[in-house]
This record gives sequence, structure tokens and C-alpha cells, in this order.
Amino acid sequence: MLMTKSIELCILAAGKGSRMKSDRPKAVQLLAGRPMLGHLLDTARTLSIGDIHVVVGSGSDQIRNEFSGDGLNFVEQTEQLGTGHAVQQVLPHLGNGRVLILLGDAPLVSRVSLERLLGTDCDLGVLTVDHPQPFNYGRIIRRGNQVEAIVEDRDTNEQQKLIKEINTGVMVADVTLLTSWLGKISSENEQGEYLLTDIVGIANTAGKKVVAVKADDHREVQGVNNYSQLAELEQYYQACAVQQLQSSGVQIVDPERFTLRGELVTGHDVYIDVNCIFEGVVKLGSNVKIGAHSIIRNAEIGDGTEIKPFSHIDGAILENDCSVGPFARLRPGTYFESEVAVGNFVEIKKSRLGVGSKASHLSYLGDATIGSKVNVGAGAITCNYDGVNKFQTKIEDDVFVGTNVSLVAPVTLGERSTIAAGSTITSNVPGNSLGVGRGKQRNIDGWKGPRDK
Ligand code: UD1
Ligand code: CA
Repeated sequence: MLMTKSIELCILAAGKGSRMKSDRPKAVQLLAGRPMLGHLLDTARTLSIGDIHVVVGSGSDQIRNEFSGDGLNFVEQTEQLGTGHAVQQVLPHLGNGRVLILLGDAPLVSRVSLERLLGTDCDLGVLTVDHPQPFNYGRIIRRGNQVEAIVEDRDTNEQQKLIKEINTGVMVADVTLLTSWLGKISSENEQGEYLLTDIVGIANTAGKKVVAVKADDHREVQGVNNYSQLAELEQYYQACAVQQLQSSGVQIVDPERFTLRGELVTGHDVYIDVNCIFEGVVKLGSNVKIGAHSIIRNAEIGDGTEIKPFSHIDGAILENDCSVGPFARLRPGTYFESEVAVGNFVEIKKSRLGVGSKASHLSYLGDATIGSKVNVGAGAITCNYDGVNKFQTKIEDDVFVGTNVSLVAPVTLGERSTIAAGSTITSNVPGNSLGVGRGKQRNIDGWKGPRDK
């Protein structure tokens, strides 16, 4: 009967997180590069759930800003009088189905656990877990499957302190019953707060079915109250990401030195050396090798391409069998056709390089369209900016650009042209010709310089 009732979601995120001593409210502290609240919403959205209500208070503007346009119903809790009080603020917004309550500071609770809880027939369901270090959590007092009470850590007696089963803070309840239970809680306790956990005793007195449902892994429901716990949760998140990647054919040389802040889609035989960071959406083909200390963000890297150490790639698409780095920087709008090679201290922005083209050392190529089999010599630069406007450089197929050339855009280098080393090129160079743009060398005999005075 209960299963057919619609479910709304209530996330408690009004707390300040005072133990973090931060200007940012706890719900927007970053876990794997993303506000904690974002992780909860991702998981929640995989369930079939109605409206999402988020209780905000401390730093509520920041939370509202970061999640504007997410279709959330923000409910203000002006004074943080406890988790029970927080849920009370949401009651006027709820229909008469069921409500799933999540804590904004326990962001990695899994879909599996939530489905298990939602699939349990009860008036009040509590997601619990066996925790090796139950300190600071509420303890579960149960008789069989019935939860008789949740005792907050500070209220436990010697015997209750030993209980390992803890309250994760996640609950599901019938809204009508919840309303009546919350009407009965008081703040006459040591904390002086309205504790959500007090509804368990009240529901028991009313003869209701209060069921504990266990999560499998205590790390998944770990609450974050300080940066130490946030770092632990980050480690858990990364470990899960590594496991998933390993099972899809990725070799991660040192799982403890791997960071994912987004989504990584991979082929097979992918090799990732130590200390790489992946952000946004990154797609790696098969037989891709990522060298140590590389940062790769919103990029697509084709089969057989190698990224050598200390490279920084952002917003780039690389086709197959390219070679990048070490110490290369590819900025948004970079597109490499296959077999492109760029080496150390090469920076590329909004430019396309054709098949087999190379820039092996110390170049800046911006706003350029470069054909195939072009060789860009060491230190060659596109001068694409006059301080106000950006201009295009076009380099056609088979061009050879000598070292230390400045290409003052807009300019076109025709097919199979050669540019002499050290040239400053300010006008187009026709195909098959040599472009020379530099002062002629003269040597002055018997020159006396400062050394001779
Ligand atoms: C709470 C539970 C505890 C459980 C633990 C799991 C209560 C009374 N205790 O304790 O049993 O083991 O979580 O991590 O529920 N919040 C508000 N408004 C408030 C107070 C809190 O929105 O007035 C929010 C906080 O932002 C936070 C969440 O509720 O996201 C939990 O609050 P917190 O103070 O961290 O509770 P714990 O002491 O961790
Ligand atoms: Ca907490």
C-alpha cells in the first residue's frame, strides 16, 4: 500500500558546518570538484522521485546561486534549531505521500541503499549502517527489525556507546504521520535542539512500524563535519572511481595518485601514470597513454594518442595517434587531426592542425588553421592579437616554418612555402616560395664594446 504513494525528497542543508571554519556553507564544499549537494542530487535523480525540497539557512544565497535552474524548491530555515526543526519547515510544502529525508553533509549515500530503504514496508524507515567507529553518530536501539530509539552520541550511556549500528540520518516516512510526530518533539534536551531522531521514540509510542534498513558500506554514508572527514570521503569516492575504470580496462599505475572530478569514458588498454587529474567530461579512446602529472579537462583523445608528462589539456579534441608534450598546453578550441605532434612548451588555442603536422618546441599557435604535414619550427609564434582584436593565421599544407618566426595575423602562408628562420611575416606568402622578413646581417670589423673600455 505504502509503495504506491508518491515520494518527495527533502535535503537538510541549512547547517553552517562551523567545524570547517569556512565562508562557504557545508553543502557547497567540494567533493571530487563538485559541491556535496550536487552529488546527492545526481543520486536522487536516478530514483523516481517527485519534488525536491532543500532546507537552507547558513549561506543560503550561495547554495541558491550555485543550484539556480536546477528545479529545486528551497525552503528557508532562518534559525538552525535542529534537524527536526529543519524538516518541520518543509511540511507545508509536502503532499500526503511519503518523504525521503537526506542530509546535505552525507553526499555519497548510494542508489542501492536508497532503493532498499524505499522498498521497505514501514511507517518510518531509517537507513543504518554498522560503523567500526560509531562515535559522534546516533546509535540504533532495536528489537528485531523495529527501531525503538535513536540515541545521540552525547546522550548515550556506557552500554549504548558500544553499539556499532548508527543512524545515517537518511529516513523515509509517511508525511501525515511525520507531521504528527514532529508536532510532539521538544527542544528540552542537552543540545537545546529539535532533534529529528526523537520521532523514532514517538512513533514507537504510537505503535507504528519503524524499520532499520542497513547500508552495505559505512564509507558511503559517512557524514562530513570537518575537512578531515571530507578528505576521507574524497578518498572513498576516488577509490570507487578507480575500481570502475579498472574493470573497464584502464591501468591506473597508482590508485592513490589518481583524481577524477567529473566523468571519464575510456576504451581498452588505457594507461594512466601517477598524479593525473581528469575534470569535466573526458573521453579516451583505446591504447591511449597519459603521462604523469597531466591535467585533462573536457577533452576527447583518440586511439593510440600519447600525452606525455606534465601536459595540460582543456577543451581539446585530438584524433588518433597524436603525441602531446611533455609540458604542452592545449586550450579550448584545439583540434588535432590524426598523427599531429606537439612537444614541450607549446601552447595552442582555437586552432586546427591537419594530419601529421608538428610543432615540436616552444610555440604559441592561436586562432590558426594549419594544414597537413606542416612543420612549425622552435619558437614560432602567431601574433594573433593587437591589444583589441584577434586575427586568423592560415598555414596551408606542407609549409615549413623556420625557427623563431613571428606570423603577424591576419596572414596566409601558401601551400609548400618556406619561412626563413627569424622572420617577422606581415603579409601573405604565396605557395612554393620562400618568405624572408628580417634585417640583413652585417658584421662590423674591430668593434669595441663595453668590455674593451
Ligand atoms: C545527525 C543525526 C545523527 C546521525 C548523523 C549522521 C540528528 C539529531 N542527528 O547528526 O543521529 O548519526 O547525522 O551523519 O539528526 N541541519 C539543518 N538544520 C539544522 C541542523 C542541521 O538543515 O537546524 C542539517 C545540516 O546542514 C546537516 C544535517 O542537517 O546537513 C545534519 O546535521 P548535523 O548537525 O551535522 O547532525 P549530526 O550531529 O551530524
Ligand atoms: Ca553531520
